[in-house]
Amino acid sequence: MGEKIVITSGKGGVGKSTIAANLAAAFARLGKNSILVDMDMGLRSLDVFLGLENKVVFDLSDLADGICREKQALVKWDVSPRVRLVAAAQLRGSETVDEDRLTRVLDSLKEDCDYLLIDCPAGVGRGFRNATASADTAILVATPDGVCLRDAERMAGLLKSRDIPRLLLAVNRVSPRHLKPDWPASPGVFAEKLGLETIALIPEDACVERCTQCGVPAAWQKGSRAGRAIMDAARRLNGESVPQISLNREFPVLRLLRRLGLR
Ligand SMILES: Nc1ncnc2c1ncn2[C@@H]1O[C@H](COP(=O)(O)OP(=O)(O)OP(=O)(O)O)[C@@H](O)[C@H]1O
Ligand SMILES: [Mg+2]
Repeated sequence: MGEKIVITSGKGGVGKSTIAANLAAAFARLGKNSILVDMDMGLRSLDVFLGLENKVVFDLSDLADGICREKQALVKWDVSPRVRLVAAAQLRGSETVDEDRLTRVLDSLKEDCDYLLIDCPAGVGRGFRNATASADTAILVATPDGVCLRDAERMAGLLKSRDIPRLLLAVNRVSPRHLKPDWPASPGVFAEKLGLETIALIPEDACVERCTQCGVPAAWQKGSRAGRAIMDAARRLNGESVPQISLNREFPVLRLLRRLGLR
């Protein structure tokens, strides 16, 4: 039986789908099987993140309605069979799907993988309730800005009321200026105000967008700082103890001196 991890946020566009796709790729690198479920009904995106947009025939609503079998709704990622996707319906909203059937479908998918990764729609509507039902872990994604902090505080309160055993925070698109002590919505302020353990501090990284364009998440490739941060988060979720990387920019010569113990 796999672990059901829901990736959620208050504010939209903060990187939920990016993190979901990258976690699946990172788990694959660790030898773990994931099923990604896109629950952003009407606004699906994970198929694009994995370059699978031309391979989706059936979606989550079809599966919940019994129109197709599980095998038909699961689309394998070309790069690694350890990553499979169930796409969201593009022409139907979450209100058209029967909640009990959806829960049964998700429970059954959970039996078939190590990690069931649910990409939740932004906000607190029915899509959020469906996605968070019976989750083992929720990752609240936020970017370091004041609006996001306010929305994340509301969302953390809602998540706490949903009896989810493990609540975690991922702060995305972090730049060195966000780490300065005078930045009002720094990752440290988030962790303190929300009272959540931080599973990932993910730097702003142009690689992320480039990787999305080619359907291969940054965590699958070497050389991306954001990819590495998400790889480390996957290791933590998998039970390893991995220290956070420093997000402060450091000149190469200073880094060398530090490594040699001269600084
Ligand atoms: N660490 C990062 N560095 C640079 N760009 C990023 C990073 N994370 C995400 N992005 C970019 O931010 C944009 C929004 O990301 P994404 O679609 O994952 O957000 P979302 O929370 O799923 O949005 P929505 O609420 O609409 O579903 C994308 O263009 C993505 O490439
Ligand atoms: Mg999304």
